[in-house]
Amino acid sequence: MSVENHHKINTSKLDEILASYDYKKSNLIAILQKIQDVYKYLPEDAMIYVGTKIEGLSPATVFGVATFYAQFSLEPKGKYEIKVCDGTACHVRGSMPVLNAIKNKLELTNGAMTTEDGLFSLETVSCLGACGLAPVVVINDKVYPQMTSDAINIVLDTLLKEER
Ligand code: FES
Repeated sequence: MSVENHHKINTSKLDEILASYDYKKSNLIAILQKIQDVYKYLPEDAMIYVGTKIEGLSPATVFGVATFYAQFSLEPKGKYEIKVCDGTACHVRGSMPVLNAIKNKLELTNGAMTTEDGLFSLETVSCLGACGLAPVVVINDKVYPQMTSDAINIVLDTLLKEER
């Protein structure tokens, strides 16, 4: 986990969210969604707080739910959120070499999905609904069609040049 994972949480903000859902166990998913809206991911301390505040829950249960649903991110997202499609059409047209090229370029090793400086985060998604453009990469909301390792390296070099 990166240093940024120790996001300072604002317990009064969390209490406000919990209160709006009556501190109810059955509202856990909605509560976690709201927290993710605020922080853009689920900080560890926030999950612990929720687990201790809701009757019938524990921090372990909250972690379990948060890790089960793909919609929740346990790591902070980067300024640039890179999504590599690994649906069937993209996979057969070479999304894996593109994914590996991104990992190499951004030095994402040992399963890390966010760069140390917090600039880039990487994830794979199952289909972006643009199979005719496979393999597809989306960075924030911009679609990059028919990507190759070379093409994505050029895109990343341009972003890196702007940022560093
Ligand atoms: S499989 Fe990649 S866009 Fe559909």
